[in-house]
Amino acid sequence: MKGEPGRVFVTRRIPDAGLRALREAGADVTVGQEADDRPLDRERLLDGVRAADALLALLTERVDREVLEANPYLLGVASCAVGFDNVDVAAATDLGIPVTNTPGVLTEATADLTWALLLGIARRIPEAHAYMTANLFHIWGPNLLLGSDVGPGADGRRKVLGVVGFGRVGRAVARRAIGFDMEVLVFSPRAKAAVEASDQAAWADLEQLLERSDFVSLHTSLRPETRHLIGERELGRMKRTAYLINVSRGPVVDEAALVRALRENWIAGAALDVFENEPATAPGLLELPNVVLAPHVGSATRGTRDLMAVMAARGALHHLRREASPHAVNPAVYQTEAYRRRTSARPPSPILP
Ligand code: DGY
Repeated sequence: MKGEPGRVFVTRRIPDAGLRALREAGADVTVGQEADDRPLDRERLLDGVRAADALLALLTERVDREVLEANPYLLGVASCAVGFDNVDVAAATDLGIPVTNTPGVLTEATADLTWALLLGIARRIPEAHAYMTANLFHIWGPNLLLGSDVGPGADGRRKVLGVVGFGRVGRAVARRAIGFDMEVLVFSPRAKAAVEASDQAAWADLEQLLERSDFVSLHTSLRPETRHLIGERELGRMKRTAYLINVSRGPVVDEAALVRALRENWIAGAALDVFENEPATAPGLLELPNVVLAPHVGSATRGTRDLMAVMAARGALHHLRREASPHAVNPAVYQTEAYRRRTSARPPSPILP
């Protein structure tokens, strides 16, 4: 079974577990950018793709038609993320290139982070921490750092959590709301039947959800129809006491509109893990007092990132072996003439099973 190994270009350093999975299977691995805090430049990406049989990319790389066309023998793209809006999947399908992602393994970690942000903004945890580290805690006071209830609180009113998008993460977030005795409303056109069948959540259209929710949490993928799903009009419909949480993709929210809404107190606050033009943030966002911000760390637990890297590695190995992956986001590609031509252009690389 040994012979010339297939070559995988890994754009930036992934957890060792993923690199190990590739190497143990006999793949010849090149990492484009070893520094964790630096991007991979475009020329290096294109050169890496030209010299590889499979590409393992992170969400920080734009895998567009130019990249996909850089190598007529490229067998596949393995994306080390569940979201794949950075990959031109239509172009990949057109060119006969399968694209895989890492669904499932990051669901719980991302749902946990959603709740950390929700509680953090409602109960002003970052402000409380800053207060302590600035040595300002001289005396307890009844007016100190007052926040908002998440559970029923003193008035006994069940708070409403509005979940936008009812895929794996949306459902895991909704499930956690049971512990806070919240009412859950869901808007997710693609999952209406699942919501209606659920006894944990009620269906709402987006306007009702925005008007009724105390917390609006976004869990939709980024698609043309979800870009700027939350803009001025939608923010204007939310309660002045409500909070927006976004752990999905930055462009789902019109960030400039959000800055305006926060500055003018149309809503009480926002907690964001993702940004419209990462790593940049909209002017004014960082100076606002009513935000909690994180650098896209929804899936950032050691265990989850290891599993993501291993799953991405498996995707790359499927590509090298010319096998259909169960995690292809464009499974129809396997039936195309373009795929047949591409995969028969050279003999399969002898990757160990
Ligand atoms: C994803 O996987 O899409 C997240 O944004 C990063 O884990």
